[in-house]
Amino acid sequence: MRMSRYFLPVLKENPSEASIVSHRLMLRAGMIKQASAGIYSWLPMGLKVLRNIETIVHEEQQRAGHIPVLMPTLQSADLWRESGRYDDYGEEMLRISDRHGHDMLYGPTNEEQITDIFRAHVGSYKDLPLTLYQIQWKFRDERRPRFGVMRGREFLMKDGYTFDLTKEDALHAYNRHLVTYLRSYERMGLQAIPMRADGGPIGGDYTHEFLVLAETGESEVFYDSEITDLTFGDRTIDFDDVGACAGVLDEFTSRYARTDETHDAELFAQVPADRQRTARGIEVGQIFYFGTKYSEAMGATVVNDQQQKVPVHMGSHGIGVSRLLGAIIEASHDDNGIIWPEGVTPFHCGIVNLKTGDAEADAACEALYDSMVALGLEPLYDDRNERAGGKFATMDLIGLPWRITVGPRGLKNGVVELTSRRTGESEELSPEQALLKIAQIYGKAAS
Ligand SMILES: Nc1ncnc2c1ncn2[C@@H]1O[C@H](COP(=O)(O)OP(=O)(O)OP(=O)(O)O)[C@@H](O)[C@H]1O
Ligand SMILES: [Mg+2]
Repeated sequence: MRMSRYFLPVLKENPSEASIVSHRLMLRAGMIKQASAGIYSWLPMGLKVLRNIETIVHEEQQRAGHIPVLMPTLQSADLWRESGRYDDYGEEMLRISDRHGHDMLYGPTNEEQITDIFRAHVGSYKDLPLTLYQIQWKFRDERRPRFGVMRGREFLMKDGYTFDLTKEDALHAYNRHLVTYLRSYERMGLQAIPMRADGGPIGGDYTHEFLVLAETGESEVFYDSEITDLTFGDRTIDFDDVGACAGVLDEFTSRYARTDETHDAELFAQVPADRQRTARGIEVGQIFYFGTKYSEAMGATVVNDQQQKVPVHMGSHGIGVSRLLGAIIEASHDDNGIIWPEGVTPFHCGIVNLKTGDAEADAACEALYDSMVALGLEPLYDDRNERAGGKFATMDLIGLPWRITVGPRGLKNGVVELTSRRTGESEELSPEQALLKIAQIYGKAAS
């Protein structure tokens, strides 16, 4: 993409409506525009990051054998009456009626709808296990939408639903989700810590929230500092291996880590004092096994090998896809702007032409640009006729992890400058070497 042809409406001033840094930077970098309270339009660069996050989520879900579907945002109230949640849900549910007077709602979540699909098409234990998931917009009429996409009213969620014959199988599905979530967040450059959560009215021990530590987080969290040393890394795992998945759960949940909702001061006191941490966190996901609550209420049964009809064991597993943009920025920025992790960056590399109009500089930039595109990389080339200082400020604000600066003076010595957004360190390299390095960073082979 050439900056001169792109739509990147950056703001010079700090928008007054934004009280936290991620919201401020998303507005300033021209990623989103508020449409109404808690509802946003996604401008081109914001949409690119959103899509990158979705891609990681899809890849990691499908790696584990989970199958994508897409359900409508508008649902019939009758389904929710069957589960008993239509009256319980309260004012967060946006209720609508159509021209025929049918009660509809904009889905805040999809347990009822997926259970309806399941009961219509699955009847035998032989069809289990089954995990269906979607990435779809949700609406919750939050009392206080705030912090930009972090607490929106309309927001994008990955919601996955598991169907199993037994509780044991359902817990394997739970563990599988834990693994996929650890992998997904790490690919996004985030550490998200599984913390024991509150099962709500359904209760039960089988729910964890994933929290990203950040001062602006809405949850107060308590944890053993050893937990922040854990990473899943690039180990491979067999998702059918029950013991291996359970081992990951043990590894990542055996240390104390809880939100204020489940915090237990006595248990916490048993953590060595020098390892006790209190902080704030952003909830970026939750996994939940809830047994037969919906399957019993809605008649989602299968016939088992004894020819008996039994309700299936279910779980639901969510990732806050749009909230993640805010969480990533909260975790990765500096005074000059965003610092995108390579896994989600909207463009792989910025190219700054210090002297647009200079034949040599223009040609060197074009050559770099074309070579990157040929390698399957997406560069953002600032080809505008503007002062270098302004170009650098924009690049820093939008936060591409790497920048190549090209100017007539360097080219006389055969070099360009490659700069890391995170460390600010620069090195002078030939254009070919700079290209090779970018290709290596992103795992693209430069031939
Ligand atoms: N209003 C919202 N705006 C953006 N993302 C949200 C919002 N509500 C929930 N999410 C995201 O969707 C994920 C799954 O939804 P879940 O039902 O667990 O939310 P929740 O526990 O009600 O969230 P919260 O406690 O933050 O209101 C959450 O972990 C969160 O990342
Ligand atoms: Mg939650």
